[in-house]
Amino acid sequence: MAQRVVKPKTNLGPGFWPVTALIAVVSAVMVYLVETSPLPIGLIQAGAPADSIDALFRFLGAIAAVILNIVVIYTIYFGIVFARPKGAPANTIGVQIHDAPVLEFWWTAIPTILVVILSIYSVKIWADLQNSKGDVLTVEAIGYQFGFQFRYPKVKGVLNEMHLPLNTPTTIHVTSRDVIHGFWIPELRMKADMVPGLINTIRVTPTVPGTYHIICSEFCGVAHSVMRTDVVIESQQDFAKWFSRQGGGTGSGGGGSGAGIAIDQGKADVGQKLFGQKCSACHSVGPFDQKQVGPGLGKIFNDPAHLKLVDGDAPTPQNVAKIIHDGFQGDIGVMPSAQVNQLSNPDIANLVAYLASLSKK
Ligand code: CUA
Repeated sequence: MAQRVVKPKTNLGPGFWPVTALIAVVSAVMVYLVETSPLPIGLIQAGAPADSIDALFRFLGAIAAVILNIVVIYTIYFGIVFARPKGAPANTIGVQIHDAPVLEFWWTAIPTILVVILSIYSVKIWADLQNSKGDVLTVEAIGYQFGFQFRYPKVKGVLNEMHLPLNTPTTIHVTSRDVIHGFWIPELRMKADMVPGLINTIRVTPTVPGTYHIICSEFCGVAHSVMRTDVVIESQQDFAKWFSRQGGGTGSGGGGSGAGIAIDQGKADVGQKLFGQKCSACHSVGPFDQKQVGPGLGKIFNDPAHLKLVDGDAPTPQNVAKIIHDGFQGDIGVMPSAQVNQLSNPDIANLVAYLASLSKK
């Protein structure tokens, strides 16, 4: 059908190309500044992945600067050039543009391409972080109202200070004892929510010694603003000294910190209730391979396919109690300690009694 398409004459005003050139120049300057100026407030990069996160941040900043210039400068320019002529009626309507497929194509294509590029770049950085290999040290950080506690392998109990050795790829599992907190070390850029019942993981490799803040970044109550502590990043020698002062080191963690638990006083029916409240989110009562977050525990004491517990010990009640008490981290996953799960020693005895009753069936 022959249409009389009345194309409005393209009128960009007298100064369009000079203004476009101005946008190009201002954008180039801003991109240069975004990419090269030191970060504000002296936020140093104290380790990986601060560098890759900063690179992403600068890239986002550069693109945002260009978009800002295009939007703001053109808006001002067109606002001036196409202002209502003096004397024209107050309800004057400007030129209406319809059926401009070329224009529509580009204002759809350009943002789409931008979003795709940003997505690929971000996902790549995220994947690199999550898949970084060679965890040398694994630390647990537990948030509570209002502070942080830390658990180290082979150190009994929880510590109130965090030390990290230089140039050591470190995995930090974070969780919470009560409400949602945020674990944030600005100098390493990494941040993760600390959620009760959930373990989030961040991976860092500290490279610059110093004492930096760990800040709670999630509003968690009246004292949220003071919920912060320090992380000390130090040489591997200094870290080793600190670590041995905490009782860590050469295998001293063996010997069963669950030893004080009176296993024989456990009651299976009480344990069953407790299991429903504390354990069933992650563990089924089916066989080992019926995994949820962790393995099934229904046959923990008499599973011919798994003659050892996940920590390599024999499946005795005392050893099961020890895992519940100390928590566990390994290839299969991470289970927080009894302190994080808020289990008392009698609770543990009841749970062991319940698991034992399952294994008998
Ligand atoms: Cu914990 Cu805010």
